[in-house]
Amino acid sequence: MKLSDVNLDQAVEIAPNTYWVGSGVNSFLNRNSYLRIYQGNGSVANMLIDPGPTSDFDDLVAKVTPLLGDIAKVNLIYINHQDPDVVGNVPFLTKLNPKTTLLATEDTWRLVSLANLPSTTFRAIERFRDLKTAFNTDPSHRIQFIPTPFCHFRGACMLYDLETRVLFTGDFLGGIAAVGLEATPSNWAGIKAFHQLYMPSNDAIRLAVQRIRKLDPPPLVLAPQHGGIITGDLIPEFLDQMENLQVGLDIIVSLDEQLPLLIQSLNEIIAAFKELCGEERTSQSLRYFHPDGSYPALFSMTATGLVTDIKGEPVEVVEALIRVFFRLITEEQQNAMKARIVRILLDHNLPPFDLLLAQESYEPVPLRV
Ligand SMILES: [Fe+2]
Ligand SMILES: [Fe+2]
Repeated sequence: MKLSDVNLDQAVEIAPNTYWVGSGVNSFLNRNSYLRIYQGNGSVANMLIDPGPTSDFDDLVAKVTPLLGDIAKVNLIYINHQDPDVVGNVPFLTKLNPKTTLLATEDTWRLVSLANLPSTTFRAIERFRDLKTAFNTDPSHRIQFIPTPFCHFRGACMLYDLETRVLFTGDFLGGIAAVGLEATPSNWAGIKAFHQLYMPSNDAIRLAVQRIRKLDPPPLVLAPQHGGIITGDLIPEFLDQMENLQVGLDIIVSLDEQLPLLIQSLNEIIAAFKELCGEERTSQSLRYFHPDGSYPALFSMTATGLVTDIKGEPVEVVEALIRVFFRLITEEQQNAMKARIVRILLDHNLPPFDLLLAQESYEPVPLRV
């Protein structure tokens, strides 16, 4: 598989008869959808995996049409879980082809079905013996379902194509801020940040890692719904790193113990802002946090602006500071700051915070001087 130098405006073949048909590569949170075509014995199954959000529909049509002639020829849809970035396009696709079969867990379907989808087209993966099934196109066309409970949804389930050995992992092993379509070792920072934010606990991650390691034959390609596609030595490397990653609740419950690290990070964030935007702008921003400012006095600070203590809920305090900084700088500076902040927090093993994933732009507000 050669994924460098590919044209991302069209479908990209990542394995035999398996195509990436996603959107938003090189954006903060890209969306990977995949098309797997099974053909033989006079029949065809065109399976779309995680069809993506409604905002990507035009792009999906543009990528799938040259392969199938018509997107209405998609006759099978696999859904990892029910999030809008995964299932937004399902109602469109089932309207274009009402005979489309939907595959998902019962827990996922209970929520997806609320989008007025015809229930007769649904097949629960729990009904397949040993969580495996085969297509009548060819004996080698077999798939296996691998549930990954609470990664991040209760009913999340990966899909393994036993012929091509591509494992479609959904949000598990997904990442933010990926560059290009193929993961490199530098993708780990974005994978770590995404999991710290969206995965509930290390226990859930460990179970998913164990299930991947048990797959026989082992996968050659891990194809997540976000971030880069993982191959080769990066597969065991990322699984090893993932196994020990503290995420979600692990971090929240231990945050109190991490207060000194959080204070240190805050001071590093302030120093980074000073370097990027100057002393004057930094002091103006910090004035918001003086007792008479727009915000309550959330920090104890020395006269030189060094944070010595945090009052209140630590995550909210950090987010409040970042929010004020972002209101005072350009979009370009915001992006530069986001990268610096993520690096500072991850260096200290702290969560990257929701704010950093927000796509909203921060309108400049008049300064209090
Ligand atoms: Fe999700
Ligand atoms: Fe997702």
